[in-house]
Amino acid sequence: MKIISSITEIREEIKELRKKGYTIGFVPTMGYLHAGHQELMKRAKNECDIVISSIFVNPLQFGPNEDFEKYPRDLVRDEKICADAKVDILFVPVAQELIGDGLAYVEINKLDNHLCGKSRPGHFRGVCTIVTKLFNIILPDKAYFGKKDIQQLQIIRQLVADLNFDIKIIGVDTIRTPEGLALSSRNSYLNDEEKQTALIVPEIIREIHLGIKENRSKEIILQHAKTKVNARHGCRVDYIEIVDAKELQLATNYKQDLIIAAAIFVGKTRLIDNMMVKNHAT
Ligand code: PAJ
Repeated sequence: MKIISSITEIREEIKELRKKGYTIGFVPTMGYLHAGHQELMKRAKNECDIVISSIFVNPLQFGPNEDFEKYPRDLVRDEKICADAKVDILFVPVAQELIGDGLAYVEINKLDNHLCGKSRPGHFRGVCTIVTKLFNIILPDKAYFGKKDIQQLQIIRQLVADLNFDIKIIGVDTIRTPEGLALSSRNSYLNDEEKQTALIVPEIIREIHLGIKENRSKEIILQHAKTKVNARHGCRVDYIEIVDAKELQLATNYKQDLIIAAAIFVGKTRLIDNMMVKNHAT
């Protein structure tokens, strides 16, 4: 596995690979890798000749009071995980070079009105800007994103369509612990007790799913869910919502594909999870 930091160098490398006619799969990450990231890499390896992954803790997507400084980092461990997942090139850009003067940015409308876009203003502008930069450097055939960050995935799909990127976006199912907790680099903030408490996140989503299947009122389902989570010691709801799966607007009925999405603080750690619900009314 090659490890490259310079943009010029990786561009040269990619030019050579292109001359040989290889297809390129790309997996962007912020590091502190786990089995969820590895799943994306494995999927890319199955579908493409060459897998390029990037590690960059992107300052543009963190708010002023968020965890950019303390976000977990361990490049030595990450390099091993990438090598095990048969990544061909690991791109570890330097902030100064990747961000440049930072005067230009990429923003999306509508899809960021709710969920994480609402509770983290500017977050998706930071994500869209950095992903656009990475796409412009790597020029992959396919890029892999996890369904765990479902709003991010839908936004990237829209970005690629609207900005005419010739890249196929592949969504990969969420990898979980045996107990059901979605893997996340931020799980490393949790102590043992909080890890137990955190199981309320997938649990509450499953409960909401049952409520939808029973056709109960959305307001009642969500109110019940929020009250239950807030009553649990150490938990605080950021949001729990039901949105339509395409435009991520608050759902007004169940006769469409839906996403149940939640962001819940367990102690100081903000965890997100979601479930896609296919339209059961037709
Ligand atoms: P990061 O949180 O490191 O996640 C990198 C990719 O791994 C994302 O596509 C994310 O959805 C996916 N992923 C995370 N946990 C997963 C899980 N349990 N199962 C499956 N996939 C999972 O998302 C980002 O980084 C950044 O926003 C980035 C896209 C790199 C832009 O900076």
